[in-house]
Amino acid sequence: MSQNLLVVKDVAMHFHTEDGEVFALDGVSFEIRYGETFALVGETGCGKSVTAMTILGLLPPQASVSRGEVLFHDDTLRRRLRMTGPGPVDLLKLSNRQMLKLRGVRIALISQDPSSSLDPLYRIEAQIGEVLNTHRGIDGKKAKEEVLRLLNSVELAPAEEIAKKYPHQLSGGQCQRVVIAMALASQPSLLIADEPTTSLDVSIQAEILELMAELIRGSNTSLLLITHDLAVVAEVSDRVGVMYAGSVCEIADVRSLFAHPIHPYTRGLLAAVPSITQRKAEMDYIPGSVPDLMHPPAGCRFHPRCKYATEVCKGRKPKMVAVETEHYVVCHHYAACLP
Ligand SMILES: Nc1ncnc2c1ncn2[C@@H]1O[C@H](COP(=O)(O)OP(=O)(O)O)[C@@H](O)[C@H]1O
Ligand code: SF4
Ligand SMILES: [Mg+2]
Repeated sequence: MSQNLLVVKDVAMHFHTEDGEVFALDGVSFEIRYGETFALVGETGCGKSVTAMTILGLLPPQASVSRGEVLFHDDTLRRRLRMTGPGPVDLLKLSNRQMLKLRGVRIALISQDPSSSLDPLYRIEAQIGEVLNTHRGIDGKKAKEEVLRLLNSVELAPAEEIAKKYPHQLSGGQCQRVVIAMALASQPSLLIADEPTTSLDVSIQAEILELMAELIRGSNTSLLLITHDLAVVAEVSDRVGVMYAGSVCEIADVRSLFAHPIHPYTRGLLAAVPSITQRKAEMDYIPGSVPDLMHPPAGCRFHPRCKYATEVCKGRKPKMVAVETEHYVVCHHYAACLP
């Protein structure tokens, strides 16, 4: 059996806008293993959310996927789609109707703003109960018990009281815990959390992330954690993919990535994280700014900012190379960057 739950393979997509095409994804590739927390990290605008939307089939009508595959190894989805035989399902080939059997069921999304996922008019127990009824066929007393179990699992206490409340009676952090409970209610095989704590107080961000990582550890669910926050990545993820201007430039287990980053962009990104012992002037910032994705640089999209760039970088896209076990990099001159 494959160890991968999800394989995103060379996905390219662009948006049609009045001003021209925005080439947002330029051959994104990574995979997510069963039961792991995989972090996708990168600066704002590098394509993290768009990658999540592509997986979930939630791109707006002006978006076109021009190539690639999103292979999902989930037997439950195959059964729901009445597909026979083994093998993954390419999510890019599913119809909107088929996607309804996937979204919120086999893959659940936790977004930045918990209030957008909760209905202000219904009590918490009714909202979680609805998911249980629709996706697991549970109702009545059994549903009530399961609602309380889920609320307890996200450490909302007393669960009986919380269940009776409306979203406006809860704090932002409590609402995000409810959203996590709702996402887990359908027992998905993949949870996608896109900057899940950005709208919350700094003081409770770490608590929520640790809770999510803990819930994942004790379940069969994998987590795709999208964030621009490297401290978060270091704390809770198993493996990490670093994105730059629409593609993944380095993938490694979390220890190797932080101990010896290889791609020049990753090295700059990590060096730019301020530490108590470093002064601003000593930091190795990345010069220049992220490219305009309407007119992205040819070859390696990082070349205008890279001190190792040569002619080959300007003309040819680098391919992903395994530098060591569990450490992949996309760079023509990675050997010059090895520790
Ligand atoms: N609806 C859209 N129309 C045109 N461009 C878009 C649209 N949505 C996102 N983009 C562009 O796609 C790129 C990636 O965006 P996004 O995935 O939201 O970045 P991130 O989540 O990493 O901050 C950005 O350049 C953004 O401007
Ligand atoms: S391929 Fe070239 S430009 Fe791109 S990161 Fe590597 S050395 Fe720099
Ligand atoms: Mg985003």
